[in-house]
Amino acid sequence: MNFEWGVLGYGQMAQALVCPLLSEGFLLPEQVVACVRNPQRAQTLSQHHGLRVGTDLGPVLMANHLLLACKPQQLQTVLEARTALEPPAKEGEGLVISILAGVPLGRLQAAFPQRQCIRAVPNIACRVKAGLTGLAMGALVSPENRQRATAFFAPLGQVEHVGEAQMDAFLALAASGPAMVAVMVESLADGGVAAGLPRAQANAMAQAMVAGSITLLQKEQLAPSALKEAVCSPAGTTIAAIAELERRSFRAALMDAVLAAQHRSRELG
Ligand SMILES: NC(=O)c1ccc[n+]([C@@H]2O[C@H](COP(=O)([O-])OP(=O)(O)OC[C@H]3O[C@@H](n4cnc5c(N)ncnc54)[C@H](OP(=O)(O)O)[C@@H]3O)[C@@H](O)[C@H]2O)c1
Repeated sequence: MNFEWGVLGYGQMAQALVCPLLSEGFLLPEQVVACVRNPQRAQTLSQHHGLRVGTDLGPVLMANHLLLACKPQQLQTVLEARTALEPPAKEGEGLVISILAGVPLGRLQAAFPQRQCIRAVPNIACRVKAGLTGLAMGALVSPENRQRATAFFAPLGQVEHVGEAQMDAFLALAASGPAMVAVMVESLADGGVAAGLPRAQANAMAQAMVAGSITLLQKEQLAPSALKEAVCSPAGTTIAAIAELERRSFRAALMDAVLAAQHRSRELG
């Protein structure tokens, strides 16, 4: 019997997707088989996650649908290690959902000609069902498989359908963004410590302040500039802080960070 989903590479991101789907009952452990490189890691993951994790590509490639979740730099090795086990049981209907940064649909479709390929860019917040996922469908994808892929990611947060030309930009903002926000929160907390607050309190305050600001933007549908103007009183404390950010090119640094991530995504493909 074939598994419903084969997960090729069960690292940070694959776990961020599969674990909440398992814990919420959207996937059953017996529907999933995963593989990694390291046998010891396979055993530990298998025990902790209650599903079949091995180092053998075979059962994963034989699954009805494939979640491709190794690093882009590892794809070539995976393809070379592939044996004559393809195609899947239901030829022509099997999906490949690739979360590999930068790897274009054309390359995926050439590597898996007997499957229908979809490129997905999820972010790490899928782990707590607050994710943001971009999906770009290959030309051959059937309506049923479009629905299947959307239903896979929908329990993990927001799903956006994106043209493939926008996928590297989507990745740069939505998938690399959480790390940029983490650095910002960490730096704000450091500022609080520099200003005299205890570390634990500064960390908690930085998170609560960022979460509250986002909630305000969303609930009142405020433009970020309107929120900034609401907080900046003439000759006050906040405009002094904003002036310092402008002197240090904070906006340009963030814009350039997103563009750098987009550039790197293109290089990886
Ligand atoms: N992290 C993010 O926020 C994020 C967001 C969007 C997309 N992505 C994409 O998600 C993918 C995975 O990223 P990650 O951060 O989850 O990486 P990761 O933690 O390093 O996971 C990679 C997994 O692939 C396995 N693997 C590597 N080579 C293999 C092979 N030849 N055969 C079988 N398994 C193999 C690794 O096994 P071992 O552990 O045994 O080496 C590991 O389980 C990347 O393509 C990345 O572009 C990541």
